[in-house]
Amino acid sequence: MAESTKNATLQLDGKSFDLPIFSPTVGPDVIDIRKLYANAGVFTYDPGFTSTAACDSTITFIDGDKGELLHRGYPIDQLAEKSHYLEVCYLLLYGDLPSAQALEDFENRVTNHTMLHEQMQYFFRGFRRDAHPMAIMVGVVGAMSAFYHDSTDITDAWQREVASIRLIAKMPTIAAWAYKYHTGQPFVYPRNDLDYASNFLRMCFSVPAEEYEVNPILSRAMDRIFTLHADHEQNASTSTVRLASSSGANPFACIAAGVACLWGPAHGGANQACLEMLREIGTPDRIPEFIDRAKDKNDPFRLMGFGHRVYKNFDPRAKVMKQSADEVLDLLGIENNPTLQVAKELEVAALADPYFTEKKLFPNVDFYSGIILEAMGFPTSMFTPIFALSRTVGWVSQWKEMIGDPQNKIGRPRQLYLGSTARDYTDIEKR
Ligand code: ACO
Repeated sequence: MAESTKNATLQLDGKSFDLPIFSPTVGPDVIDIRKLYANAGVFTYDPGFTSTAACDSTITFIDGDKGELLHRGYPIDQLAEKSHYLEVCYLLLYGDLPSAQALEDFENRVTNHTMLHEQMQYFFRGFRRDAHPMAIMVGVVGAMSAFYHDSTDITDAWQREVASIRLIAKMPTIAAWAYKYHTGQPFVYPRNDLDYASNFLRMCFSVPAEEYEVNPILSRAMDRIFTLHADHEQNASTSTVRLASSSGANPFACIAAGVACLWGPAHGGANQACLEMLREIGTPDRIPEFIDRAKDKNDPFRLMGFGHRVYKNFDPRAKVMKQSADEVLDLLGIENNPTLQVAKELEVAALADPYFTEKKLFPNVDFYSGIILEAMGFPTSMFTPIFALSRTVGWVSQWKEMIGDPQNKIGRPRQLYLGSTARDYTDIEKR
């Protein structure tokens, strides 16, 4: 925990209260209000946590005004260009880039945990075939606590480590099997001679009836999508994981809570919603109609893939994703993709409109990711599961950091109560 170097003073009812201020390594100062209620008898009010730091962390930093995202200090664009997903996983989990030997060891450990307990197949089979893959993932990830009892004791550092590796290793298998089950095809077992992204593609797209060659271009693009989604500091799903784990719940249950939160269209579900919106727009001539709808206060429609709680400038991941979309479509020989065309023209039209610029609404990571995933052959229902498997390392890293923090206590927000004051129960015949 940082040392306080200065104080803020709160004047309330003729009394003054000193509140320590902490300075982060980068970013705005933070006022410590932990003793506010004990000393002054008041709470703070901040629905949606727009101004509240709920923890300290050394993992990820976002400067929303600059459009900067750093993992352990390294800019996301450098990681997307020069690194790869498992190296970024190591960085997020352990704090530094690995040596060649440490990376090899880590990759071996992950690879050796990619299979699921055989019994878990029957768990998948309990779902309806038309279940959304995210529904299956919420259930199966939660069910891991019923299969891997030897890594649920959160007080044991070794068990925490094993649970972390298991989650990162098994999530692609779970996501791919949710997809296979949904499409009615047989489950494809992981193969340990393939890299993380190639293995995932193979588990999704190969069938026993024929050989499947992983396209290295698609594998690289897949790996980049994983990398760009790996962590994003205290977003809704990560905060959900932290809140769930603050009670001492086991890691699989906590990550299942993160998957559930991610599903919503305001968060990870935006990639599916965005592609569906781009398809609905269909042709560039319909863009003005949808922009008008997004601006209309009486219409609940929002431009999906646009806007972000923290970024008030370009989401740096969106820049890489846009470039990647161009590259992938080009390399796959897909010319004049109508959805990409609509996306590009929609971006230009929105950024020329004062409504979006004045509210600082820019494309986020999900604006272009769906176009790449669709070109790879994924249905829209798989977009959010792919986000979930990518983000697992972020959830796990934040969870490990939290459990290892001596200040960790159960999360328990307060409220501004506006309900009835105490009143006597009225017997039913008198109501
Ligand atoms: N289209 C139209 N208007 C928007 C949009 C949008 N996509 N996003 C925000 N606005 C408007 C709001 O109506 C609001 O206007 P007002 O001040 O006149 O009331 C203003 O911009 C601020 O929006 P808030 O909802 O208050 O901002 P918040 O930080 O709470 O929400 C969010 C951020 C949820 C991402 C929002 O921008 C949104 O719904 N975007 C579309 C969904 C999306 O793409 N989500 C993915 C986020 S990134 C991720 O999770 C990977």
